[in-house]
Amino acid sequence: MKMHNFSAGPSILPPEVLQKASEAVLNFNNSGLSLIEISHRDPSFVEIMNSARDLALELLNLQGKGYSALFLQGGASLEFVRVANNLLKVNGKAGYINTGTWANNAQNEASFLGNVVEIASSKDKNYTYIPKDIIIPNDLDYLHITSNNTIYGTQFKDFPETNVPLACDMSSDIFSRNLDFLKFDLIYACAQKNAGTSGVNLIVVKNELLDKTNRSIPNIMNYKKHIERESMYNTPSVFSVYVSYLTMKWLKDLGGIAAAERRNNAKANLMYSEIDRNSLFYGTAAVEDRSVMNATFFLKDESMTTAFDELCLQEGIYGLKGHRTAGGYRASMYNALPMTSVQKLVKVMQGFEADLL
Ligand SMILES: Cc1ncc(COP(=O)(O)O)c(C=O)c1O
Repeated sequence: MKMHNFSAGPSILPPEVLQKASEAVLNFNNSGLSLIEISHRDPSFVEIMNSARDLALELLNLQGKGYSALFLQGGASLEFVRVANNLLKVNGKAGYINTGTWANNAQNEASFLGNVVEIASSKDKNYTYIPKDIIIPNDLDYLHITSNNTIYGTQFKDFPETNVPLACDMSSDIFSRNLDFLKFDLIYACAQKNAGTSGVNLIVVKNELLDKTNRSIPNIMNYKKHIERESMYNTPSVFSVYVSYLTMKWLKDLGGIAAAERRNNAKANLMYSEIDRNSLFYGTAAVEDRSVMNATFFLKDESMTTAFDELCLQEGIYGLKGHRTAGGYRASMYNALPMTSVQKLVKVMQGFEADLL
């Protein structure tokens, strides 16, 4: 039986992607070779890399609009450092909006390289909301935002209007909803939620933004160098790039981001209506800021935890535990999670309530 996989990341992938990825490991394109034992310079892999980069821009509707896409290693945590290396001028200033652990980490990492100011924060209420009416100074080299707060389950619905370049960590909601992506000057995401599996990051950057700092940047940190080398400056994470390619192709065939968004909204509506209805549970994220990707919730009576956890396991529900720093539960409902999994979880929650009342 396939488990209902609510893991926050690495997370569920479409069955077709798992099937094709495993076939490629055994016999890539009927070549008699495994995908993970050929050179990354082999034309068949170069084609995958180029198609993956094109597909990322196509899905975001940014093709031919002055942006480049890259697939690099190091996890989103490395991008925290790479973004600052490429955008923060020596003696310049970067602004960060602190909406959770990852946003806070991004801010801390950038501060190793220069002047970083916290423009707004929701730390005062344990990151349960998204700050509103944020005033953005216009002397920033860039403003950094984390669009979806994976751990606490909040999400920006609107983005602050600003003239300064906008850099966004979309690790946990990329490809999940239609936005005007032209508003962003730099988007990055670790792949292990909506864009494939761990081991690779997608970076989409406006070309004209680069090479504007007077900082000397080590090559491995330099987006311009990676663009010049077409994401092959050093050995790419071949398997992870292939899984990203397959995942994006799956999304395109599904109908692109618009189709994913419809499915995601339906799943989130069902999930949150059960959290609000069920007398045993409660959610903590501000209702207007609730994440469509990660629904966080708690048991009112924590002594019921073991019983609920055991029931979930018995019913084939995996990965529902909240982040170790936040506690409670978190239902991650990424693009590949089918509606039937949310229906199952809702049924289990209803059954748990009915048995106890
Ligand atoms: C929004 C966000 N940013 C950054 C990260 C860190 O990613 P990584 O572990 O790939 O460095 C995560 C991980 O879950 C995340 O959810």
